Amino acid sequence: MTTKMPVILDVDTGIDDALAILYALFSPRLQVLGITTCFGNGDVLNTTRNTLAMVEMAQVSVPVYQGAADPLVGKWAPQGEAFHGENGLGNAPIKKPVTSPKTLSAPDYLRAAILDRPGEVTVVTLARLTNLAIALNSAPNLAQKIRRVVVMGGAAFVGGNVTPVSEANIWGDPDAAWVVFHSGMPITMVGLDVTMQVNISDAQVQKLDPDRPYTKIMRQALDFYLSAYNPGVSSGTRQAPLHDPLAVAVAEDPTLCTTSDLSVDIEREGTITRGMTVVDQRGWLDLTPNVAVCRSVDAPRFLRNFCERLGFPMALD
Ligand code: RIB
Ligand code: CA
Repeated sequence: MTTKMPVILDVDTGIDDALAILYALFSPRLQVLGITTCFGNGDVLNTTRNTLAMVEMAQVSVPVYQGAADPLVGKWAPQGEAFHGENGLGNAPIKKPVTSPKTLSAPDYLRAAILDRPGEVTVVTLARLTNLAIALNSAPNLAQKIRRVVVMGGAAFVGGNVTPVSEANIWGDPDAAWVVFHSGMPITMVGLDVTMQVNISDAQVQKLDPDRPYTKIMRQALDFYLSAYNPGVSSGTRQAPLHDPLAVAVAEDPTLCTTSDLSVDIEREGTITRGMTVVDQRGWLDLTPNVAVCRSVDAPRFLRNFCERLGFPMALD
């Protein structure tokens, strides 16, 4: 029997986070030690509630730890509603979870879990990097104890999705992203360069296996998500990106993406570039590369795995 890879997911659930949670929990290769929550696609109470609801719908037992309500600097302001709805799951009627988050905070849990298994734990961040940055700031050498962080975030060679150059998870707390990107830990960046290449379609959503416990909620949530990504397009021909599931998939199987080792910094102050992942493409700064940047993805292979595992049909008819 092969040993499963221990991972912690950090989420702001979120429609694509919800799919990523299911993808990770049903993985034959990942052992999800815990899930930490952050503000982002909703306030942190909302994203924690959605996370608990998804874990319950997956019918597994994994501890959930509530984390940051605000970025390192300033206050959270609603921003994901257009894509994720007021409740974060496309306004689908989510049952009140029967489970609760653990009493330990997300950053405290991250620190304890990583120090407990030095060099073993992979952290997959699907949200702002606030929880991980707080954990890093609280413990010298924590970065050296993490096996790898796989970050869904940034846009290396493509445009942004909240500003012309910035992606939401970096833009939502650039100070936290700066801490992580300067920490020295091994980082894989699964940015918009590759996540915009993996899409789910109307036909697949409509034909999601009717017997899964999450089918009703996810069909409704995904209908909202498809509308948000395809304004004015009639249902039947829409598609939308699977950002967060791809990051989990890359943690599970790094061969899904080609990468380049590059020096990447975070713009924290620019008036029109705040939250930009700045890539030193031509080596001007003469720095040691700090990030494995995903450049291309085997989309058919990822989609085949994703559809099989979650019960979506692969055929795009
Ligand atoms: O830019 C995409 C990311 O922002 C995803 O993680 C999505 O869930 C939102 O948080
Ligand atoms: Ca997310």
